[in-house]
Amino acid sequence: MAESPNPRVLRIGILGFGTVGSGAYRMLHDNREEITRKIGLSYEVVRIGIRDSEKTRALPKTMFTTDLLSIVDDPEIDVVLELMGGVEPAGDLVERAIMNGKHVVTANKELIAKHGSRLVALAKSQSLDLHYEAAVGGGIPLVQPLKHQLAGNDVLKMMGILNGTTNYILSKMKSEGSDFSVALAEAQAKGYAEADPTNDVDGFDTAYKISILASIAFGKQVPVAGVYREGIRTITKIDMQYADLLGYCIKLLGVVEPRGQGCVLARVHPTLLPNAHPLASVNGVYNALWLHGDFVGDVMFSGRGAGSDPTASAVIGDFIDVGRNMLAGGCGSAIPYGIGIETAPISELVTSYYLRIQVQDRPKVLGAIATVFGEFDVSLAAMEMKTLDGGRGEIVFLTHPCVEKSFCDALHQLESSGTIEVVCNWFRVEG
Ligand code: NAP
Ligand code: HSE
Repeated sequence: MAESPNPRVLRIGILGFGTVGSGAYRMLHDNREEITRKIGLSYEVVRIGIRDSEKTRALPKTMFTTDLLSIVDDPEIDVVLELMGGVEPAGDLVERAIMNGKHVVTANKELIAKHGSRLVALAKSQSLDLHYEAAVGGGIPLVQPLKHQLAGNDVLKMMGILNGTTNYILSKMKSEGSDFSVALAEAQAKGYAEADPTNDVDGFDTAYKISILASIAFGKQVPVAGVYREGIRTITKIDMQYADLLGYCIKLLGVVEPRGQGCVLARVHPTLLPNAHPLASVNGVYNALWLHGDFVGDVMFSGRGAGSDPTASAVIGDFIDVGRNMLAGGCGSAIPYGIGIETAPISELVTSYYLRIQVQDRPKVLGAIATVFGEFDVSLAAMEMKTLDGGRGEIVFLTHPCVEKSFCDALHQLESSGTIEVVCNWFRVEG
């Protein structure tokens, strides 16, 4: 049983044998000697839970079961690796495994983002570990550094490229001038994006991940519902080109910053980043987290944020931690976080904005736009203009930092008065 301070052999049950599950199994197999030496105990995979018993697998059929309860209820199993995904039945299975005295390692960002506070507290109350390093940033160590090495800092801001699929798409749009739909099809063909890419492309995946990181950094569960979210479907080649002209790239960022005591502003949206920012050079399926702490200053972690091998690396790192803790007779790495943090609305954000509009190309239009922005305390910082057919013009502005509500109100007034014919696009800018 898991409580045993010195089991002879660690017995593992795996839930899921897809991209991550098969990678974790392979790492346990290929690096057995090293992993055994590092834990100080041998281990064996007892059984693997799957959904489809007809699929061809690289292991004997006897290793697999579609009865996942038989794994979490097996008194011989010490550690469950939950690598199946989704909230249900994964959540019930994790809870049941804990109640049956098993340590759990999971890669499931949706489950941890929605139920992490409750599940980690449950594990802790049973003197068990529940680890989830693989849930954010694939193979990049982010969860453990936030829980331990950086824990003494007040985190003043975190910004992350936390989704490989969208970063791949945006990198292709920038480097090859591809349209969004072409870049998405390529990401799907390469196996980065799923057949239904909604979770990635519409920012849900990044919202889960920034919610998890923010919960650790601020010590309270940051509810997913409180994370403002926009995806990347609206970004066009034209915006990429204008951004480049102004010295910026466009990335899908998860951002969180404190807003006074007990409140954070957490958001996911396409963002213009100066080309000189360290995150701007993170391309393709790579992920990165940039953080500013009051004592540590700026730090950045980057690496492969998705895929079988990098994610397996994080899962097995957690498993080794569990093994060491079991041997030491503790569960030191399960750090519970409570609930009750407030999330500020996006309308309170103060940042700079990129705006692309179309207008009638005639006298006083530019002056009228600048006047209305000025009335709403929005100051213009840079501008690009292009003449279009039919006596019209396209203008791109960058603003100085201002309150989002003021920027939106000014834009609304300019649109409803007809001064601006078309608002083509606008994005937030990080400086
Ligand atoms: P996947 O390739 O779709 O594999 C899922 C596995 O779980 C499959 O073996 C599937 O069985 C099994 N499964 C799913 N639902 C089941 C159910 N209701 N009953 C029994 N078995 C079930 O998924 P994945 O990409 O490995 O992702 C697994 C988890 O890791 C998810 O939480 C994901 O968010 C997370 N994650 C993934 C990555 C990545 O790069 N893929 C990176 C970080 C984190 P069958 O084989 O029979 O279909
Ligand atoms: N779909 C995710 C991505 C997998 O593209 O980053 C890793 O969490």
